[in-house]
Amino acid sequence: MANKRVIWCDTDTLSKDVSGKVYIVTGANSGVGLETTRQLVKQGGHVVMACRRVSAGEEEAKAFQGLKGSFEVMACDLANLQSVRDFAEAFLKKYDRLHGLMCNAGMVVMGNKIQFTQNGFEMTMGVNFIGHFLLTELLLEVLKKSAPARIGLLSSVVHAGSPKNRYQVHLEDLNFQQRNYNNFAAYGEAKVATVQYALELADRLKGTGVTTASIHPGWARSNFGKGGNLLMRSLMAVAKPLTRSISDSNEEAAQTSLHVLLSDDAPKHSGAYFSQHSVLYRDKECKKGGWPMQSPNPHAHDMDAARKLVKKSYELVGLDA
Ligand SMILES: NC(=O)c1ccc[n+]([C@@H]2O[C@H](COP(=O)([O-])OP(=O)(O)OC[C@H]3O[C@@H](n4cnc5c(N)ncnc54)[C@H](OP(=O)(O)O)[C@@H]3O)[C@@H](O)[C@H]2O)c1
Repeated sequence: MANKRVIWCDTDTLSKDVSGKVYIVTGANSGVGLETTRQLVKQGGHVVMACRRVSAGEEEAKAFQGLKGSFEVMACDLANLQSVRDFAEAFLKKYDRLHGLMCNAGMVVMGNKIQFTQNGFEMTMGVNFIGHFLLTELLLEVLKKSAPARIGLLSSVVHAGSPKNRYQVHLEDLNFQQRNYNNFAAYGEAKVATVQYALELADRLKGTGVTTASIHPGWARSNFGKGGNLLMRSLMAVAKPLTRSISDSNEEAAQTSLHVLLSDDAPKHSGAYFSQHSVLYRDKECKKGGWPMQSPNPHAHDMDAARKLVKKSYELVGLDA
C-alpha cells in the first residue's frame, strides 16, 4: 500500500530520456540504491553499480534486462580506502564522462560494540562519510568535465537529533576514544558530516555546473539495520510488519534521490538538504519533509564546521587540499 505522505517526483522527471548519461550509484545492490538504479536504467541511463559484493549486484541486475538503459557492476568497498581508489581508477580508465554520482551506500553498527574500517576509522563514519568523501574527491574532475553534473549524498533524518541533543561531528574524537561508544550517535554524526559536505562542496563547485545535495530518503523497507545478534535480528523481524503503515517501499524511498539526479529544480538549490516526510523528526515543522528544506540541526548548516570537516578529511584520506 502506498504511503500517502510520500513526496513523489513529477512525471516529467520520471519520463526524462537520459540515454547517453553515465551515473554511479554506490550500494546499488539493495534497497534505495537498487530502486534508484532501476529507474535510471529504465529512463535510458548507463549506471555503474558500485557494490561491496559484486555477485549481489549482478544477481539483482538480472531484472534490468530489457530496460532501455544499461549497467555495469564494479567492486567498491567503502570500508577500505584502497578499494575506493581502485574503483575510481578503474572507472576513469573506462569512462570519460560522469553526469551523476549518488553516494547512497550506508550502514549502522547493530549494537554498542565499536567496529573499525580497514584504515582504522570508526565503521559508521568510515563507510557512510569518509569512503564517500574520497570517492567524490577522486571523481570531481570528470564530473566537472561532464557538467552539468550532480552529486547526491544520502544522509538521514537521524542527523537532525532532537532540540535537546543536536548531533555534531567530533573532529577531535572521531573514534570515540574520549567518550562512550554509541552506535546511534555514531550514525547521527556521520550523517551530519554528509549534510555538511554537500554544503561545502556546493560552495567550492560554484560556477562549475556541478551541483550537490544531501538526502533523507524516508523510512525504507530495505535491508538497512541487518546484522546484530539473534535478539536484535528477532526484534527487527517483529518490528518490520508493525511499522509497515509508517514506512515506505524502496521505490518510494528512491524518489528523493531521483529528484536530486533528474529534476529541473534540484540544481537550483545546490548544497541543500532534500528530505522525504518522516515521523522521526522531533521538530514538528519538519515532519512533512521538503525538497529542499532547512535541517533543524544548526550544526548541519554551519559552513565553518563544514570547512573544518573537509580540511580534516583531506588529511584522513591522504589527499592534498
Ligand atoms: N532505510 C532507511 O529507512 C534509511 C533512512 C535514512 C537514511 N537511509 C540511508 O539510505 C542509504 C541506503 O540505505 P538502504 O535503506 O537502501 O539500506 P540497505 O538496503 O541496507 O542498502 C545499503 C547498501 O549499502 C551497502 N554497503 C554497506 N556497507 C558498505 C561498504 N562497506 N561498502 C560499500 N557498500 C556498502 C550495502 O551493501 P551490502 O548489501 O553488501 O551490505 C547495500 O548495498 C544509506 O546511506 C542509509 O544510511 C536509510
